[in-house]
Amino acid sequence: MSLSRRLASAAAAFALAATGLVLAQPEAVALENGLARTPPMGFNNWNSTQCKADFNEAMIKGIADIFVEKGLKDVGYSYVNIDDCWALPSRNSSGALVPDPARFPNGIKSLADYVHSKGLKFGIYTSAGTKTCNTAGFPGGLGHEQQDANTFASWGVDYLKYDNCNNQGVDAQQRYKAMRDALAKTGRPIVYSLCEWGKTDPKVWTWGAPVGNLWRTTGDISDKWSSMIGKAQANRVLSQYAGPGHWNDPDMLEVGNGGMTATEYRTHFSLWAMMSAPLLIGSDLRKVSDDNFSILRNADVIALDQDTAGKQATVLSSNAGLVVYSKVLANGDRAVALSNETAATATISTSASATGIGSASSYTLKDLWTKSSRTTSGTISASVPSHATVLYRVSKSGTGNTVRYEAESGTLSAGGTIDSNHAGFSGTGFANGANAIGSYVEWTVSSSGPASLSFGYANGTAAARPVDISVNGTVVASGVTFPATGAWTTWSAVSRSLTLAAGTTTIRLTATSADGPANLDYVDVTTG
Ligand code: GLA
Repeated sequence: MSLSRRLASAAAAFALAATGLVLAQPEAVALENGLARTPPMGFNNWNSTQCKADFNEAMIKGIADIFVEKGLKDVGYSYVNIDDCWALPSRNSSGALVPDPARFPNGIKSLADYVHSKGLKFGIYTSAGTKTCNTAGFPGGLGHEQQDANTFASWGVDYLKYDNCNNQGVDAQQRYKAMRDALAKTGRPIVYSLCEWGKTDPKVWTWGAPVGNLWRTTGDISDKWSSMIGKAQANRVLSQYAGPGHWNDPDMLEVGNGGMTATEYRTHFSLWAMMSAPLLIGSDLRKVSDDNFSILRNADVIALDQDTAGKQATVLSSNAGLVVYSKVLANGDRAVALSNETAATATISTSASATGIGSASSYTLKDLWTKSSRTTSGTISASVPSHATVLYRVSKSGTGNTVRYEAESGTLSAGGTIDSNHAGFSGTGFANGANAIGSYVEWTVSSSGPASLSFGYANGTAAARPVDISVNGTVVASGVTFPATGAWTTWSAVSRSLTLAAGTTTIRLTATSADGPANLDYVDVTTG
């Protein structure tokens, strides 16, 4: 073996070792109860009432009414959820939870029936401990998982928030899996919200996907700027863990509770949508102003949150409180948030190419708050007031459209990782597929018609790395070679032309040699 080949294979071995030791993660297997394919939207009373007396049947029914009357249901809000303090402090003689008759004189089933009669869904709360979090000490689910799950199912519950107080030091995964299994046994589809706050190691986002539909990543939010932006800062670095059916939850919305300015509430709502966070309204809608309704009903912003690709935004740059977020959208567009966390107006800038949207002669920037649109040849920049966020939907407006799908937006078979240890890639990393026959990288693309596909890759070994290319599960090109590029930092491209059907299409590259696929950086899909 020549020196250069020995060095190349040593580098490959080192890359693998590094992957195995540092970057390997078990493949995220989602809970797959079929629920929460987009982040849950709805209401929860906690942020406005806590356990005060105005948390009662009249309030919850009133919220359900307003969801319908004020068009919130029409823009996607569906879950009407109740939080702590709905129960009596003691179970009944059969060990069952009992609704507090002062707050809920007709019980929970009748309330759930009312919510369902409006075409909405109903959610409830308890804790993965012996008691809930309130100091009055309402009974928790630890050791009562199946009985409580059965009670909830019999009442018609569609969503369970499962808190973490009074957990007696029992392992979090054990506690949260026990309720997951109990819910599954009821046979009723119930969205499962893990409220563990990212408290213990290993962190809930590393094990939450097969356990729950969403998991709190932070402690409790409060209705002030410092709290809200702190939650965003903690949550925005966790985008790799979110996806359809399994979401990061930086806590419920404070919009309308009065402790922040309208500008700050727009930032709150913008960032939650960018981060694919649950949008659970936390204000008493019977009392909030029209300004707040117009924030909560902004359909363009909600569309970012509910985008079917389910990609949480990543941070493109963060410079002394001036933060640029970018979110990949299912139709190839990008959402860009220019967010100013500082006390003074500032210009915040990025570019279309930094978002990975791909080249076009021009781009349309639609401001999702002012609704005005403008065209740019590439620069995305705005003067952003203190605590404001300018939110754009970026789309191509030139001809000969090329949409870039980064490998980090794709799906990898078991053992594959997104790495960044060989420079020169685009976006934030490249796919390092497992070294095995059958190992694959898959993209979901939304272009249609005759298309030219260009796969960016590097192959630092001496041997070509062949793959089969399949479209929607059918192999359309066998043994397509990805020749050696000379080094893992030397990137090249392999192109193929094919015709894509309307709607979304999966494109999978499956290795046909034991070396696995080359390191894959992106696929550019050019149509028109
Ligand atoms: C914890 C949770 C909150 C709320 C309260 C209720 O603090 O994190 O969201 O449910 O308990 O007591």
